[in-house]
Amino acid sequence: MKRVTIRVPATTANLGPGFDAFGCALSLYTDVTFQETDAGLEITGCDEEFTGPDNLAYTSYCAVLNTLSEEVRGVKIHIDAHIPICRGLGSSAALLVAGAMGANLLHGSKLSTQGLLNITNAMEGHPDNLAPAFYGGLTASMVDGGLPVSVSFPLHPDWEFLALIPDFNLPTTLARSVLPQQISRADAIYNISHGALVLKALELGDEKLLRNAMQDRLHQCYRKKLIPDYEKIEALVRTTGAAFCLSGAGPTLLCITQDQNLERKLSKKLDSITEKNWQMLPLRVEFQGAHVRNAE
Ligand code: HSE
Repeated sequence: MKRVTIRVPATTANLGPGFDAFGCALSLYTDVTFQETDAGLEITGCDEEFTGPDNLAYTSYCAVLNTLSEEVRGVKIHIDAHIPICRGLGSSAALLVAGAMGANLLHGSKLSTQGLLNITNAMEGHPDNLAPAFYGGLTASMVDGGLPVSVSFPLHPDWEFLALIPDFNLPTTLARSVLPQQISRADAIYNISHGALVLKALELGDEKLLRNAMQDRLHQCYRKKLIPDYEKIEALVRTTGAAFCLSGAGPTLLCITQDQNLERKLSKKLDSITEKNWQMLPLRVEFQGAHVRNAE
């Protein structure tokens, strides 16, 4: 194999109380093509600022080759990204996953998906986006002894996801910097109990249970001040009966519902309560994880 294109789904992390643990793959994709050359590094398809050696697809590509004790030769990387950058939909995880899979495939597929997850988790610091990006569907993960352990959970087929994506970005480092280092026992109990019930509600297709369980005290209450009109939009979504949460570290907001008219109901009112532009993007669960789209 000389050239390979990897397709990686977008992912929404946390799903409310499952901070750094829960994630779900969604039907929006980034494709990354890797071709080895003798001419150094060339990255195309993205803004100039992302074409250097700190590009995440390249850093994970190199990390896999280092693990395999293979020489890093020149490589052409072309990025066709439909996952918006720094919006809380797993754009960074998608690049890390693509780079790791691309390097592994071009070098004899010696590492397992778990091996690639171990490498990329050490780079990202938490597996909640990476696991569903690799495996698809709904996953929950823990890090045990420094290594990620991820399992898949069933999802009711009728869920619709509506992403509300604003025209501003929010770097994850900033969104993590506002979180407290310590929390109370009451808040820990709140999140553990709500998290368990989120997984069951998603399996059963129980919208009322999901709406109630999908609340948390670890991150959303601290992050909402970074997102203009968060509270107004949350209040609007709650009038529809849909479940609501921050997608990953934000700023995208996520509605989960079985109401096929949710977009229409929100579109009438969303513009009137906010001065920012919010794109409404209906998405489905993507059950297929990262995979080869094209290989020569
Ligand atoms: N769990 C992470 C967070 C996801 O909320 O910070 C974003 O990388």
